[in-house]
Amino acid sequence: MRPFILAPLVAAGLAALTLAFPGSARAQETPVPHLNWSFEGPFGTYDRAAAQRGLQVYKEVCSACHSMQYVHFRDLAGIGLSPAQIKAIAASVDVPTIKADGSPGTRPGLPSDAFPSPFPNDVAAAAANDGTIPPDQSQLVDARAGGPDYIYAILTGYVKPPKGMHIASGLYYNEYFPGHLIHMPQPLQADQVTYADGTKATIDQEAKDVTTFLAFASNPELEARKRMGAHIVLFLALLAGVTYVVKRKVWADVEH
Ligand code: HEC
Repeated sequence: MRPFILAPLVAAGLAALTLAFPGSARAQETPVPHLNWSFEGPFGTYDRAAAQRGLQVYKEVCSACHSMQYVHFRDLAGIGLSPAQIKAIAASVDVPTIKADGSPGTRPGLPSDAFPSPFPNDVAAAAANDGTIPPDQSQLVDARAGGPDYIYAILTGYVKPPKGMHIASGLYYNEYFPGHLIHMPQPLQADQVTYADGTKATIDQEAKDVTTFLAFASNPELEARKRMGAHIVLFLALLAGVTYVVKRKVWADVEH
């Protein structure tokens, strides 16, 4: 008799859970397409040229709104820049400082400086962006489900909104942003940057490049980590071989 009494209770409980956590709402979001990134897989590395172009896109476009406060100019050695290039890039950017009389001012950056933020504080950042603070990009690739695929999808996901949809001012329709309405105007246009290496600056190219740079910023140690992993596997394989030979030797005289 018991199960017959419990069954409706369980069903009601499940229905209540479904209402409380509407997973189906997320399921309706457009799935993010997967791209092949150079830094994927056990031996993946950052495409240096792409990451350097991505740095240019960040500097010339994204840095107007997004901070990267945990990245330092000296970290750029990880995408193949020489000490002289790093010095020049740092010096081309004004970083905040305290002047001799104690008032706030700016000075040219040094390799040891962090990337300066576009706004003095979060209140100013929100005020300039219709009430939404542009998220810091130092760890953005790791902080979002979908990682680089999601970042690329957002940057290339500005499409025509569905017919008849009302979009309040300050919001923009993006196919891949959860809920579709994002406070960031489409940041990339074709030829928005002029690449030093002559690569054609399509939206797709700029999005891939800046995503590669942001992936590097999130995981600057990725290549060293993968290298160490390969070395450890190699070492364990050698150790297994040596152990086997020693075992054969030690047991050689034992009669079976
Ligand atoms: C005009 C200011 C502005 C510029 C320029 C800009 N962004 Fe944004 N961005 C924003 C704001 C504001 C948000 C927050 C949007 C929201 O939560 O609705 C945002 C959000 C994002 C998100 C979504 C993060 C999330 O919460 O899932 C990504 C990814 C992003 N920006 C990447 C970039 C990249 C890469 C660039 C440079 C190519 C860039 N942005 C340039 C203002 C800007």
